[in-house]
Amino acid sequence: MKVTVFGIGYVGLVQAAVLADVGHDVMCVDVDEAKVESLKKGIIPIYEPGLTPIVEANFESGRLKFTTDAKLGVEHAEIQFIAVGTPPDEDGSADLKYVLGVAATIASYMTAPKLVINKSTVPVGTADKVRAAIAAKLSERGESIDFDVASNPEFLKEGAAVTDCMKPDRIVVGSENPASVEKLRELYAPFNRNHDRMIVMDVRSAELTKYAANCMLATKISFMNEIANLAEKLGADIENVRKGIGSDPRIGYHFIYPGCGYGGSCFPKDVQAMVRAADSIDFDAQLLKAVESVNYRQKETLFKKVSAYFDHKLEGKTIALWGLSFKPNTDDMREASSRVLMEALWRVGAKVRAYDPEAMEETQRIYGARDDLSLVGTKESALQDADALVICTEWKSFRAADFAMIKQTLRSPVIFDGRNLYDPETVKKHGLDYYGIGRGLSI
Ligand code: UGA
Repeated sequence: MKVTVFGIGYVGLVQAAVLADVGHDVMCVDVDEAKVESLKKGIIPIYEPGLTPIVEANFESGRLKFTTDAKLGVEHAEIQFIAVGTPPDEDGSADLKYVLGVAATIASYMTAPKLVINKSTVPVGTADKVRAAIAAKLSERGESIDFDVASNPEFLKEGAAVTDCMKPDRIVVGSENPASVEKLRELYAPFNRNHDRMIVMDVRSAELTKYAANCMLATKISFMNEIANLAEKLGADIENVRKGIGSDPRIGYHFIYPGCGYGGSCFPKDVQAMVRAADSIDFDAQLLKAVESVNYRQKETLFKKVSAYFDHKLEGKTIALWGLSFKPNTDDMREASSRVLMEALWRVGAKVRAYDPEAMEETQRIYGARDDLSLVGTKESALQDADALVICTEWKSFRAADFAMIKQTLRSPVIFDGRNLYDPETVKKHGLDYYGIGRGLSI
């Protein structure tokens, strides 16, 4: 089938590449000329395992095309995906200007019926707005052409985006139009071979499903972080508690890892957007507000521990930092806990020596050259001339650490672990102080 995807961000690019990979003829449209030109040369703008080979192979085969020409994109296919960003606007609500802009663009160029599908995470009611935007543009043109708008939210995780898209847990389709559902069933047939993963519902429920999923996951994390903080005050070990509660299948082991707060482009933005959407209809989303504020506090926890350890005298100290990205297997620094930590350290006159397997360029891009930030090539060199080590991201290569070497290199033998990577007894045996999240009494 022919498909057009507007927006070559994480969601759009991965979805387009995966659809092309199973044999569809996909055209990607983006306003960013530099991005389109790079993609044509095989340069992928994001780090995502497994993405480069499928983009390259399908670009070469001609099944995956990139263009800035929206008219070409609209003409290419009946199925038009909208996968552009919905950044938070000033008050935290999802800003729909890009989504509605694409809707108007589709309506300006269409000369035949279209099925427009929202892939972006959009507030409940957006499909109606997209529908209205298309109808308004068509009437401005004096045209009456058939079209439908469906919702098909994306559930991929960064770092596992290709696998998530290739083997989705579920394909949520929001449409009350049987013909549109049929078209989507055909489009997704290659992903549905062994069992039917399609869950068809009304448009508003599909839009809410996406937010509810992310808010539920964020709630699990904030809940665990709250219990971790309590564990610390009560002298319990959250890692024992985690295993103890995860064994109940109603709770489960997934997504109950305490840490230094959730980040990324989705949870912070979506929880906030949900709170704002609730406010706008005079509903006080109490639980979600708490999820958000627990997370703000959690992101400050590493700094508070480091500061307390050094008697709040951090000026002139150098802190080694392992892990900058908001989670492993990505170079994404959006809302990363490492940023909250670094910025707090800089405010009190401390320096940072940081290493990350993928996110160094992105860190450089965000902060530029500054005297209080050194980005170094290995995890070992981050320890040189440093007073303490802090771990912000659980990259696999940090899991086995040479504690004897860490002890020898650091000025003060102490590790602050925002991801609870190590067994406290083992670390302590090497003569290091060790502070995780929710394990051992707080400093
Ligand atoms: C998230 C969802 O997991 C996807 O299902 C969803 O499709 C996506 O948002 C989206 O809306 O596009 P992602 O932002 O890539 O995916 O990252 P996650 O793997 O969910 O991690 C988010 C944050 O939670 C990270 O900072 C991670 O460190 C933290 N986390 C995760 C914890 O602190 N504890 C956990 O147990 C799990």
